[in-house]
Amino acid sequence: MSQTWIVLSGKGGVGKSTITAALAVTLARRQLPTVAVDTDIGLRSLDMLLGLHNQIVYDVIDVAHKDCKLKYALVRYAQAPSLSLLPASQLGSSGDLTEEMMERIVRKLRKRFSYVLMDSPAGLEHGVVCPLQSADHALLVVTPDDVSIRDAERAIALLEANHKPRPMLVVNRVVPEMVASGEMYSPQTVANTLDVPLLGFVPEDRGVLRAQNRHQTVMDEACPAQQALLRISQRFLGEYVPMPPFQRKRRFFGLFG
Ligand SMILES: Nc1ncnc2c1ncn2[C@@H]1O[C@H](COP(=O)(O)OP(=O)(O)OP(=O)(O)O)[C@@H](O)[C@H]1O
Ligand SMILES: [Mg+2]
Repeated sequence: MSQTWIVLSGKGGVGKSTITAALAVTLARRQLPTVAVDTDIGLRSLDMLLGLHNQIVYDVIDVAHKDCKLKYALVRYAQAPSLSLLPASQLGSSGDLTEEMMERIVRKLRKRFSYVLMDSPAGLEHGVVCPLQSADHALLVVTPDDVSIRDAERAIALLEANHKPRPMLVVNRVVPEMVASGEMYSPQTVANTLDVPLLGFVPEDRGVLRAQNRHQTVMDEACPAQQALLRISQRFLGEYVPMPPFQRKRRFFGLFG
């Protein structure tokens, strides 16, 4: 049975697109038919994050307005062919896509893919409400700070108002040393504050930007964020993977550090 997820946050720039791309690639590497849908109309980014930006001919708005068939707008991710991208348009605005158009497109995608992952824009306006209507599940991305948490509370309220189930939480840009020293909220504290289940956390990691600058996902970069996103993907698929602890590493006779 096909699952449709919206990735949302409220606050912008917290890592929705990075996490959508990484999750989509990981599912596809397991041969799970997956489509990543960029619903950030006018400000698309998944195409670049997946290195597919030179292969786009048509986009979701062309499909929505029946200027092309869905199959011509889908771009195959060659490194893991189970993944396709339905790109957002480079121009235009969220108003170019209605809830009915989105529902029609998602209905078709569900027939071809097991996982439909919709990356949403920042904010909680029409650009988010539109894909949200077609989603069965939600993945909420926050950074461990008060502004992001407050915006996430509003995102949860928006989900509730639209009769959607409680989201799964990913806390991004966590600095483990700061959590260990009590200078940053722990991912579990963020989850408790928001009263949502914690799927995992991703550390602050320069490898994310390194991968992005090469137009690759972080899953192609050997770094702590890659390992964290692999664990998140495994939990997403229902596997039991414990959360790593936040103890500060202790030196023991100078052997371990
Ligand atoms: N764990 C991380 N460590 C370091 N940098 C990160 C991490 N996660 C994301 N970033 C960086 O944060 C920036 C924003 O990420 P991204 O575009 O995924 O956020 P977004 O929520 O999709 O933004 P928008 O709301 O604008 O769509 C990018 O430059 C990305 O490289
Ligand atoms: Mg984004």
